[in-house]
Amino acid sequence: MPMAAARGVRKEYSFAAIALVGFLSLTACGKPTERPIMPPDVTDFKTLFSENCAGCHGMDGKNGPVRPLNDPLYLTLIPRETLEHTIENGVPGTAMPAWARDQGGPLYPKQITALVDGIESNWTKSVTLGSTKLPSYDAGGDAGDAAHGKQIFVRSCFMCHGKGAKIGLVTDPSYLALVSDQNLRTSIIAGRSDLGMPDWRFLNLGHALTDQEISDIVAYLASLRPQGAQTATHVVESGSGQTGARTTGNEGSGNGPGSPENQTANQGSGGKGVGNARTKQ
Ligand code: HEC
Ligand code: HEC
Repeated sequence: MPMAAARGVRKEYSFAAIALVGFLSLTACGKPTERPIMPPDVTDFKTLFSENCAGCHGMDGKNGPVRPLNDPLYLTLIPRETLEHTIENGVPGTAMPAWARDQGGPLYPKQITALVDGIESNWTKSVTLGSTKLPSYDAGGDAGDAAHGKQIFVRSCFMCHGKGAKIGLVTDPSYLALVSDQNLRTSIIAGRSDLGMPDWRFLNLGHALTDQEISDIVAYLASLRPQGAQTATHVVESGSGQTGARTTGNEGSGNGPGSPENQTANQGSGGKGVGNARTKQ
């Protein structure tokens, strides 16, 4: 995979960085330590973004440790209200803090609005999808089938994320403990346009993954989280009830060490499901 090889240099940067970002903010009980208080009259998008967001989402909204927001496909995917809601409330259990003052954050409502408007007006472009249907942003409570997700992972992701691969340890439990199911879903659908991960249209061996397949892969990855790690489920507006369904769906899904489907991934290396996909040869 030439793309993967070309990107190899970057990988440690990004995955180490997200771990560091997660560590720094989670050690302060989810409260980020140094967030500048913006004077209420600052409503300039560039200033707000570079002071508050660029450290994680990248200068100009890309090439940071965390996913780009300067990404037309991503902005087509995420509904405006969800974008706004996520900025206001953050993603509990991850390094993404809440920004609204009424959620303990530093920003006034008009500053949040300026960010949402600025992200959309500066970085939205029309995306040509042809006949391919864009999956929905959130899984709508679909818990997914982890065993099936594992098969798809082996087929569609392993070449870049598997053992010996030069890029990201997405099956690493300590990485998975830092990211929400929604973040995994978003990554699979929108890819990482800045770092060379293709989007869902190409991930099924050059064809589009279905909505169901995406949910299944997320269920598989979620099943690899360490026991007891807080499952950082991204609850979107009116999302009550989704959390439970998604989490319990991953339990007992048959991906424990030694389960038969591990053999596809492990190529006979002995059925230690959790770590094998990323074991360096
Ligand atoms: C052509 C290679 C390639 C394929 C195939 C691929 N990825 Fe990726 N993926 C990448 C690259 C490159 C990155 C960025 C690496 C980094 O963050 O350092 C990435 C990053 C990720 C991330 C982290 C995103 C973030 O915001 O940091 C996740 C999660 C992920 N991939 C999951 C998957 C899953 C699941 C599949 C299969 C459906 C898959 N990838 C297939 C290349 C690939
Ligand atoms: C300390 C690092 C950090 C900072 C600063 C930060 N974010 Fe985030 N952000 C994250 C992480 C990590 C995630 C992924 C969380 C998860 O696992 O769902 C994220 C996720 C998001 C998402 C949702 C991505 C998705 O999956 O759809 C949006 C939107 C977002 N951030 C916007 C912002 C904006 C706007 C700012 C500035 C006001 C900001 N973030 C500042 C770390 C950060």
